[in-house]
Amino acid sequence: MRPRPSRRGVLGLLAGAGAAVTVGAAGYAQLTAPTTGRLLRSTAELPPPFRVPLPVPPVARPVTTGGGRDGYEVVQREAQVEILPGLKTTVWGFDGLFPGPTFVGRAGRPVSVRVRNLLPVPTSTHLHGGITAPDSDGYPTDLLLPVGCGNPARPSGGWTPGATHGDHVGPGDWQLHEGEKTYEYPLDQAAATLWYHDHRMDFSGPQVWRGLAGFFLVHDDTEQDLPLPTGERDLPLMLCDRSFAADGSLRYPSLDDSCTGTPGVRDGYGSGVLGDVMLVNGAPWPAAEVTATRYRLRLLNASNARRYRLTLAPAERFDVVVDFSAHPPGSTVTLVNTLGEGRMRQVMRFHVTHRDKDDTTVPTRLAAPAPRLGREQAAAVRNFGFRRTEGPDERARWTINGRPFTTGDTWATPRLDSVELWRLSSDFHHPVHLHLAQFQVLTRGGRPPAATDTGWKDTVDVRPYEVAEVLVRFRGHRGRYLLHCHNLEHEDMAMMANFDVV
Ligand code: C2O
Ligand code: CU
Ligand code: CU
Repeated sequence: MRPRPSRRGVLGLLAGAGAAVTVGAAGYAQLTAPTTGRLLRSTAELPPPFRVPLPVPPVARPVTTGGGRDGYEVVQREAQVEILPGLKTTVWGFDGLFPGPTFVGRAGRPVSVRVRNLLPVPTSTHLHGGITAPDSDGYPTDLLLPVGCGNPARPSGGWTPGATHGDHVGPGDWQLHEGEKTYEYPLDQAAATLWYHDHRMDFSGPQVWRGLAGFFLVHDDTEQDLPLPTGERDLPLMLCDRSFAADGSLRYPSLDDSCTGTPGVRDGYGSGVLGDVMLVNGAPWPAAEVTATRYRLRLLNASNARRYRLTLAPAERFDVVVDFSAHPPGSTVTLVNTLGEGRMRQVMRFHVTHRDKDDTTVPTRLAAPAPRLGREQAAAVRNFGFRRTEGPDERARWTINGRPFTTGDTWATPRLDSVELWRLSSDFHHPVHLHLAQFQVLTRGGRPPAATDTGWKDTVDVRPYEVAEVLVRFRGHRGRYLLHCHNLEHEDMAMMANFDVV
C-alpha cells in the first residue's frame, strides 16, 4: 500500500525556504512522463526488497564552537562498505561514508567546513541551496586537489588541469587548492533541507555516483516553534539509484573509470544514467520500523538522472509529514515511485510497530507566507533554452541557448537585490537549478504553478517542450554563479551557464 498523501496529512516544505504548501495527490498526477536517461543493468545478484534496515547518516560533530560559529573537519576518502548483502563496494565518501555525515546548522550561525581530499581525484564541494559566497560555492573549476597530488607544475598524481577538458576550460581558468580547503557557509537563510555534493568540472556524474553527497539541515526559530516531529521522527531520506557489478563494485559507464582522463559517458548514456538498484540512505530497498505517529520525512532526490513521482525531480527536496497512526500496528507502508518500472517502482518500506504518544500536529503554515513576487517586479526578462545541439564536430552537446559551458562566458548579469523573470524552456526533462538565487514559479506551460511548484525553490523540473517562467531574486552575494541542468550527465556535458551578480 502506498502512504496516502492526503491533503491534510502531507506537508511540503519547498526547497530553500520555509513557504508553507500542502501537497495533494493532484500535484503529483501531473508529472506524467518518464525519466530522461538509459538503464545500466547490474550484474551483481540483487537482494529481495525490504530486508536491509534503513541506515540514518550520523550527524557531524563540530571540532570548534567558539565565536558564534561552528567549525567542522571532514575527509574525502575511499572506503569499503557493504551495500548489497555479502558484497563489498568501494565508495568515495565524506569521512568514507555514503551518504556523508549530516551537518546540522542554525540560521544566522556561520559554519565552516575544512575538507581534506584523500581521493585519487580532484573535487569541488557545493552546498546545494546554500546562500554562499562565490569562493565557497563549489564552482566546477575551483578544485580541491588530492593531498600530495601537487599543483600543475609538479603533477605527481598524474592529473594536470586542462589536459582533458576540451574547449570549455582554458589553462588559466582553474583555481587550485592542494590537499585541503575551508568552505564558509554564512547560513543567512531560513530553515531548509539542503544537501552537499561534488561539483567537479566534467566529473560530477561519476563522483556523486560513487558517493560524494550528504545532507545539510538548517533549522531556525520559526521552525522550532512549530509542532513538527523532531528527533528520531525527523528522518532524512536520500533517494538515489545505482548499478553494481558482480563483485559488488559500482558500475558507471565512464569513458575513463579512473576519472583522471577523458570525461564523459559511453554512447547511449549521454541522456542520463539510470541504475536498477534503489538506494535510500545508501541501502537497497530498505525497511524502517516506525511507531504509529507522525514523521517528518525529508525527501531528497540525489539521483543522477532518475525522476520520481510522489516526490521529485533530481536535486529537488520536499519535506512531508506522514501520519502512520492511520495504520494499525503490524501493518506495513511501502513507498512507491510510480514513475519507476519493475523493481524500481519500489523505494522502501515502513513497518508500523506500536502506538505511541504524539503531540505533533501539522501546522497550516510553516513560516510567514513568502511574499508573492509579481511579474511587474522583474527588472529584466531573460530566456534560457535547454537543448541538445550539434557541435561543430557533429557531436551532440547539451547546451543552454545553444552554447556549451565555458568558464569565461557570462549568460546574464542581474543586479544584487533585484528580481528578474527567467523563461526556462527545454527539449527533454531538464531539472534546472540555480546556485545562490531562489525563485518562485510564475507559470508552467502557461498555467499557474501546481502546489508542488509554489514557494521558494532552487530547482525546477522543466519538462519536454515546456516553458517555466520563474521570478528569481538575487540576494546575499555578488559574483559568478552557476545555472545548470541537474541531470548530472547533462551537467558534465556542459549544460551549465554563468551568471554574474553585479
Ligand atoms: Cu546540486 Cu550546482 O548543484
Ligand atoms: Cu546548487
Ligand atoms: Cu538536462
